[in-house]
Amino acid sequence: MGEPTRKPVETPSHLRNFHLAARVSRLGTETAFEVLAEAKALEAQGRHIVHMEIGEPDFNTSGHIVEAAIQALRDGWHHYTPSAGILELREAIAEDVSRSRGIEVSPDEVVVTPGAKPIIFFGLLSLVEEGDEVIYPNPGFPIYESMIRYAGGVPVPIQLREELDFRLDVEELIRSAGPRTRMIILNSPNNPTGSVLAREDLARLAQAFAGSRVMFLSDEIYRQIVYEGEALSIASFPGMKEATVVLDGFSKAYAMTGWRLGYGVMNRGLAAAVTRMMTNSNSCTAAFTQRAGIVALKSDQSPVTEMVRTFRRRRDRLVKLLNEIKGITCRTPRGAFYVFPNIRALKRTSTDLAKALLHEAGVAVLSGTSFGEYGEGYLRLSYATSMEMLEEGVRTIRGFVERELSSNAC
Ligand SMILES: Cc1ncc(COP(=O)(O)O)c(C=O)c1O
Repeated sequence: MGEPTRKPVETPSHLRNFHLAARVSRLGTETAFEVLAEAKALEAQGRHIVHMEIGEPDFNTSGHIVEAAIQALRDGWHHYTPSAGILELREAIAEDVSRSRGIEVSPDEVVVTPGAKPIIFFGLLSLVEEGDEVIYPNPGFPIYESMIRYAGGVPVPIQLREELDFRLDVEELIRSAGPRTRMIILNSPNNPTGSVLAREDLARLAQAFAGSRVMFLSDEIYRQIVYEGEALSIASFPGMKEATVVLDGFSKAYAMTGWRLGYGVMNRGLAAAVTRMMTNSNSCTAAFTQRAGIVALKSDQSPVTEMVRTFRRRRDRLVKLLNEIKGITCRTPRGAFYVFPNIRALKRTSTDLAKALLHEAGVAVLSGTSFGEYGEGYLRLSYATSMEMLEEGVRTIRGFVERELSSNAC
């Protein structure tokens, strides 16, 4: 079955003398984009597809943020900005992160990037030497493993187990760390499982690693999309701020995926390196997008609260409907906008089932293995789509599964 996230980049056969650098073979991918393209191709042939594969809010960006971008363009924000981002935006981010994480952040500890993803890319390239080990959650966002390998690091996966509500087993993580461990990646709320790390998990990690050479990359992109309690940051624990890169951004909470606006908060030494990576790659993040980001942070936050309330209603409905399907069980996730149902009883691999659901039933979902080998036995469904679509999607899945089970029984 292979690992779909690590499929090599293919060179077209007619380009015989064309050679890609070896490092490209170390890059993985994000299957969500491939499944989306496949689903769109089926739609172009006239098929009706229910989309549950996409990891982005189905809401549009709030009008006042859009207006701020238009105004910025009218006001002449047409030029390069400093590579680390416009000072006013970095001040707004520093203030927001200081308040929400209970730490003191200054603007020169903030680097603004086109989306939050470059913080993973630049953070790993800046910190990981050849052969350094990087611990990361599996199932987890596929870009972690891809970038660990690309940077020359050794990926050390920690399995997120359903019995633990897909929370990291912190004791197992601590046992996995050794002299070559350079980084630990945390992601809470987690994509794809929706799990949220508990205060005691983070306190234990902070106690185990404070004062060591290990840096944490804390991916907090879903921080505001949490339904029970709150998602805490490892950076908030004593002694951990300097040892943590906080990754956050505007894509999810402000429904701004296509704007490409994210940031990292990190110690000044690392911020200088990451800023240099920005100078060498993007020069800077789009100026008018940054101006809109200032307004997003400083204005009324009720659209975020309202969106999360809607996600919660969908989550509750989706989990209930999935659990009514024979052969599928689904835990209630505490954050993000994904469910990760267990499909082991259906006796098919996750990749197989996801493909059959798309091609035979017209429902686009992701295989759990798109998030690493420990995702086998699961699917990822996004509920960032309308209630009607969710209900139709689950009805279709149910019909498909019932047909499968009855034909297996014959
Ligand atoms: C866990 C996680 N981290 C980071 C990102 C990247 O966010 P952005 O679109 O801002 O680059 C995503 C997007 O899907 C994600 O799920």
